[in-house]
Amino acid sequence: MRVGVLTGGGDCPGLNAVIRSVVRKGVQEYGFDFVGLRDGWLGALRNDVVPLDIAGVRGILPLGGTILGSSRTNPFQHENGMGRIQDTLAAHGIDALVVIGGEDTLGVAAELSRQGVRLVGVPKTIDNDVPGTDYTFGFDTAVGIATEAIDRLHTTAESHRRTLVVEVMGRHSGWIALHAGVAGGANVILIPERPFDIDQVCAWVKSRFKFNYAPIVVAAEGAVPQEGQMILKDRSLDEYGHVRLSGVGEWLAQEISRRTGTDARTTVLGYIQRGGTPSAFDRWLATRFGLHAVDAVRDGDFGTMTALRGTDIIRVPLPGAGTGTRVVDQALYAEFGVFFG
Ligand code: F6P
Repeated sequence: MRVGVLTGGGDCPGLNAVIRSVVRKGVQEYGFDFVGLRDGWLGALRNDVVPLDIAGVRGILPLGGTILGSSRTNPFQHENGMGRIQDTLAAHGIDALVVIGGEDTLGVAAELSRQGVRLVGVPKTIDNDVPGTDYTFGFDTAVGIATEAIDRLHTTAESHRRTLVVEVMGRHSGWIALHAGVAGGANVILIPERPFDIDQVCAWVKSRFKFNYAPIVVAAEGAVPQEGQMILKDRSLDEYGHVRLSGVGEWLAQEISRRTGTDARTTVLGYIQRGGTPSAFDRWLATRFGLHAVDAVRDGDFGTMTALRGTDIIRVPLPGAGTGTRVVDQALYAEFGVFFG
């Protein structure tokens, strides 16, 4: 059996660990051979296919990024996307695909699977927002990076007695903001799931100063004020209809300064959360997802996705378009209210 592997969407630490584990087990245990499709669905559209074997995956376990490249290409936005993908699969004798991606890439996979393409999905994203799995790999690394940044920002904020706003990634879900904010001892955590009241944020900031501490405000990039709309620097859309976020951190610092008469600055962590070597947990999870994905291919269990449920890896149906993202539960967020202000 020949299996194609692709990585789509925003990259995240652990992608290479999945590729390695899929290839190692597929070749060694099942005698499969592999090819890689370059740059996610773009490679499938452009017939950009490269060899993938055990020698090619040696040493990649701790490497960030993806050796196959990635893109946010949506094949259904391209003329005859489905036909071109089928041509590529036929030209290379590819019997099945392992698709490693977030909700957009996996949404395309679900549609292709409905149309008869034999494939298995593996959920990835630093945002941890793929429905059906308790965690995605990449998230733990991103939380570690954001937490270290918050720890560092505490000391400089104290020295200057100013508010530091930390903007982290998370378009529709506040998982990184919540986990890193809690781990880093933030005084305010703002998530997309719960529109914030700027007066309340300023009240928390002031109360923190009263106790002679400098406030740290962690905001997910998709956090929105109650009265208003998402703060955007750029209104261009990608092929899945997403806008480029970033701007809420700067807006918050300006409003806090203006409304409280105290100094406030912003740090936008941006792509640093996605780059570099995966944490041990992400290597572990990515490796297990890879092993189970290749088992699903061997079993012919197509249209499924590997998922973490508790400590078990299970198979669930691919999340189709319209399933939405996995968001932070209001009750979970409320648990940490005692630390605000
Ligand atoms: O990987 C998901 C994500 O990190 C989002 O939180 C963020 O909005 C997006 O990627 C930005 O990625 P890009 O600029 O590569 O489209």
